[in-house]
Amino acid sequence: MIRIANVEMNDFITVASGIVPDVLDYVDRVCEVVKPASITLKTLTKNPIEPHKAPTVAKLHDGCYINAIGLGNPGLEFLKYMNRWGKCQFIVSIGGSSVKEISEVASKVKNFGEIIEVNLSSPNRRGFGESMSAYAKEVTQAVKDVVGKKPVFIKLGPWDSILEIAGKALEGGADGLTLINTLKGMKIDLNSLSPMLSYGTGGISGKCIHSLAVRIIHDVYKEYNTEIIGIGGVFSWEDAIELMSVGAKMVGIGTAILELGLAIVPKIREGVEEYLAEKGLRLCDVIGKAVRK
Ligand SMILES: Cc1cc2nc3c(=O)[nH]c(=O)nc-3n(C[C@H](O)[C@H](O)[C@H](O)COP(=O)(O)O)c2cc1C
Repeated sequence: MIRIANVEMNDFITVASGIVPDVLDYVDRVCEVVKPASITLKTLTKNPIEPHKAPTVAKLHDGCYINAIGLGNPGLEFLKYMNRWGKCQFIVSIGGSSVKEISEVASKVKNFGEIIEVNLSSPNRRGFGESMSAYAKEVTQAVKDVVGKKPVFIKLGPWDSILEIAGKALEGGADGLTLINTLKGMKIDLNSLSPMLSYGTGGISGKCIHSLAVRIIHDVYKEYNTEIIGIGGVFSWEDAIELMSVGAKMVGIGTAILELGLAIVPKIREGVEEYLAEKGLRLCDVIGKAVRK
């Protein structure tokens, strides 16, 4: 059990957004296997979005991928199924291409899940995600205005301007931040001498962004001492402890599930529990411990 932004989460692990597609049977199965971890749903937008054309994912190295799904999702229609998963906790990820649209989506999802996560960081569809990060304060205020008591986390990316944008989200009233989304990159197909992904660029995820996540979470926690869901290249319990030691209260697992399957979730949980027992520590003793104030 972990208390974050005044909400009780059954576990410190969440499945990162986009890893479980908004497909009923799939969510059913994941819910069973990852319990008590929560599931962060794939970002939902007001209207359905078709994913970009294949190829949308390419492997860069072991544990490192680049993807440009492009926020493909079924839209708010998906919410009609939400009551089916009473046993699982959810973080509901939302997005949109204007402040007004994101706040409309927020007002529709406010009764679902434990936390609302606003995606201001996906690099894979122009006008959405990262494109909306310039309005971090306005978006956060607008979402907070319509969701009542439900905690709102703003998901940001590994940018040079992270402290400034994180500050804007917090000024707007964010209850916490989710850090980090993927890092924009490109992979070239040497046969055709053209970008491998149909969208051209994509978001780099997995092991190659882990140290970047550690540094960003460290810097943001040091500056703002806020609630953080830490994500980025968590493949082992050691990676999870590392993110928590720089300030993450919960840890999201993404690419590791794509590469190693859902069994990595209980494995990481057990590893963290063994580490804590061996050291005689509680989770709260680890959070932020590596950050010099
Ligand atoms: C295939 C794929 C789809 C993703 N879709 C979303 C999404 O819809 N919304 C979002 O906020 N993040 C999305 N992400 C980003 C992840 O939630 C996570 O922030 C990122 O992959 C870094 O974590 P990781 O290294 O553990 O994968 C996606 C990542 C991948 C690999």
